[in-house]
Amino acid sequence: MVTAANGKAYDVTEHTFDVVVVGAGGSGLRATLGMAEQGLRTACVTKVFPTRSHTVAAQGGIAASLSNMGPDSWQWHMYDTVKGSDWLGDHDAIEYMVREAPKAVYELEHYGVPFSRTKEGEIYQRPFGGHTTEYGEGPPVQRTCAAADRTGHAILHTLYGQSLKHDAEFFIEYLAIDLIMSEEGTCQGILAWKLDDGTMHAFKSKMVVLATGGYGRAYFSATSAHTCTGDGNAMVTRAGLPLQDMEFVQFHPTGIYGAGCLITEGARGEGGYLTNSEGERFMERYAPTYKDLASRDVVSRCMTMEIRDGRGVGNDKDHIHLHLDHLPPETLAERLPGISESARIFAGVDLTKEPIPVLPTVHYNMGGIPTNYWGEVMTLKDGNPDTKVPGLMAVGEAACASVHGANRLGSNSLIDLVVFGRAASIRAGEIVDPKSSNENLNQASVDKALQRFDKLRNANGSTRTADLRLKMQKAMQDDAAVFRTGETLKNGCKRVSEIWDARDDIQVTDRSMIWNTDLVETIEYENLMANAITTVYSAEARTESRGAHAREDCPDRDDENWRKHSLSWVSEEGKVKLDSRPVHADPLSNEIPLEKIAPKARVY
Ligand code: FUM
Repeated sequence: MVTAANGKAYDVTEHTFDVVVVGAGGSGLRATLGMAEQGLRTACVTKVFPTRSHTVAAQGGIAASLSNMGPDSWQWHMYDTVKGSDWLGDHDAIEYMVREAPKAVYELEHYGVPFSRTKEGEIYQRPFGGHTTEYGEGPPVQRTCAAADRTGHAILHTLYGQSLKHDAEFFIEYLAIDLIMSEEGTCQGILAWKLDDGTMHAFKSKMVVLATGGYGRAYFSATSAHTCTGDGNAMVTRAGLPLQDMEFVQFHPTGIYGAGCLITEGARGEGGYLTNSEGERFMERYAPTYKDLASRDVVSRCMTMEIRDGRGVGNDKDHIHLHLDHLPPETLAERLPGISESARIFAGVDLTKEPIPVLPTVHYNMGGIPTNYWGEVMTLKDGNPDTKVPGLMAVGEAACASVHGANRLGSNSLIDLVVFGRAASIRAGEIVDPKSSNENLNQASVDKALQRFDKLRNANGSTRTADLRLKMQKAMQDDAAVFRTGETLKNGCKRVSEIWDARDDIQVTDRSMIWNTDLVETIEYENLMANAITTVYSAEARTESRGAHAREDCPDRDDENWRKHSLSWVSEEGKVKLDSRPVHADPLSNEIPLEKIAPKARVY
């Protein structure tokens, strides 16, 4: 029994389930629904109300080769995803995702997602960056299925409604603190804190599924919600397990200048374009074929180069213009109502008349918890990097399956969420026996989690969490940005390590257990730090440029030495250890010509 610093013991309520899903965004809800459908006793533990999860903010759409607007195929989708990943994605996982994608979208349609429609009544699909026809030789394809520009909102609400139909039990506004691991390394459940009454809860389960999302808030400017604090990733590091490919952080080209809010890539899909201070459509120079619809990492870099070369717009010449003012107002009202509102509120712009000021903004983490394409978590053990961690799965942005490799294509995230949320539930249905009894929890692991919680609750130093968080965000924004060099990254490692060490002086002023937001933010800050430190150290070590990792001192991709996933561990003292895992270059079938997906120069 752990006694709190105030002398009172922590009472821990125990719950027993077959499966505990942590997180209720798109992947968490799809996994929860799939598990419950099969009769597994399932709990979904979430720190926010399910329909407030960050998936709600996804705008432009979900990729699947439905061919509603013209010819398309899963093979073309696979080629685009492999190329988008800059040949770092795992081909087995990519093939699984793109082949399952149409099925997953029709399933969403049948669940009730209100997709926009073509005149014929089919699901409307729009063009998105990096999605092409004819293995990159043909024109852009319309592959992104959309519900206006509120696709994530539509999907999340539908999935929550469907989950409620089944017997899944929701534990809402419970913050997961840590994984409970056996001495042998099996995940036995989680410890969580119920925010509204201050009680502690241990969830015993035969399978834990981490669906905790990304860690955009490690940066100063991000399109991610403030809740995107990489909680699951950090729990994995504290269990002594590695994270994968953390150096690959995606900057979305069109965050609103200043506010950081997302302006969907669907805006360019519907015909929007970018200009510099000379009014030039500069993407034509950098990506003559796909122009503004080149992939995100490419567009973000081109915008940054324009600004650096003195062709940014505005008084400080520090941003770029996105034009939609040439499009018919009816198209904007029908297809892009959400961003019309965001542009008005956050940029003070009427987009039917004037351009939107935009800037590349942190949007997505390609790295995360290493998994296979069933969502089973992998670790490096006895030389085998594909060793499964019993009892543990990860899905969605928290996971690294790895379908996105070094750079994710727009609209491949929502499809990743539902395909792999569903895959995890299929796999759990095969390996979790509802008739077996749960293992007894390893009390030492429960106590360790409680002690960490209590230490933070009573942290008595002199530096406020918010000050440390800001320092971390500034260091990441400055030193692990769109462009990086060995020098900035070394500096970033030094800064982030110093910030890590400063946690001994952290100050939490509220010691209460009920709605203690000071403590919530401190726990989230610690989680962000585990993500930030593994990101910057992995980036410093990778001496090449690939996808979103653009090193000015090593401008070329180096397949011979670096076509491999990075693995990173971080100790309690903040020491980062690095290793690697080979890319899975074999697809699942022989139905895609191997020469089509072999590495080559990546041009758009
Ligand atoms: O631009 C967007 O609508 C974002 C989509 C995505 O990240 O997949």
